[in-house]
Amino acid sequence: MNTISELSKEQILRTLDDALEFAKGKTMKIAGQVFVSNLFFEDSTRTKISFDMAERKLGLEVIPFDTATSSVNKGETLYDTVKTLESIGVQLAVIRHSKNEFYRDLKGISIPVINAGDGTGNHPSQTMLDLMTIRQEFGDFRNLKIAIAGDIKHSRVANSFSDALRMLGAKVYVSGPREWFDVGSFMNGSYVDMDDLIPEVDVIMLLRIQHERHAQSFSTEEYLQRYGLTKAREQKMKPNAIIMHPAPVNRGVEIDSDLVECPRSRIFTQMENGVYARMAILKNTLEKNGYKFS
Ligand code: CP
Repeated sequence: MNTISELSKEQILRTLDDALEFAKGKTMKIAGQVFVSNLFFEDSTRTKISFDMAERKLGLEVIPFDTATSSVNKGETLYDTVKTLESIGVQLAVIRHSKNEFYRDLKGISIPVINAGDGTGNHPSQTMLDLMTIRQEFGDFRNLKIAIAGDIKHSRVANSFSDALRMLGAKVYVSGPREWFDVGSFMNGSYVDMDDLIPEVDVIMLLRIQHERHAQSFSTEEYLQRYGLTKAREQKMKPNAIIMHPAPVNRGVEIDSDLVECPRSRIFTQMENGVYARMAILKNTLEKNGYKFS
């Protein structure tokens, strides 16, 4: 799976059904011995560990791959690296890479590849766990008002999430510093100022400011007051509205630190759901490639 858009609405909903079953305690094991490897060329805590956890829960054999000690450091390309793992016997690869659409370089690879985040492009497994969290809360996506707020310009989460939400019938709004995205062309989402948005939406998805992708620094306190979720804004949210964030969180920047674990926050639920959503993605990918589960 490279992007969420390559799945139909029905395929997304079926994957969510599987993920919700796993969350309720359903177990499945792969038939026979199947080897998988997680190649993370960009840093990760949640995605890497939850893929690892999901793979072990499904009975897959996880072959460690450490970018720091691999021959990538001798100049080996991504294609040759994955081709090598395939030759050695790895049967599925999960890859995170800083290059947008890195998967286009893997055309000659026969094993299935799951995109765990490509540059500023896509983050489909994150979207699946985010959708799962919303479905647990509201049951359906149609006519939900969902805001994505913050560093949209650099956000692969925002790209995949908004694509899926529109497919599922939710209304998408965007907010944050206008100069960080092209309002006119961004995802067809309506731009709304944070103070106007907060009382209207069912879900606010806050995004991390990706300091590593910004050339200039800015006042974090000023950012929180102008564009972030302060305690005063949280008080104005609808009674059943929830707060989400893909994390890692810059506490006190895009969200007041005290709100990260407040009753409305589903931030740690999202992380828990990451394991189940990734189990569902792995199961469906492997089944599509002829593997059996019991
Ligand atoms: N949300 C997310 O992708 O987190 P990591 O970068 O820690 O995997």
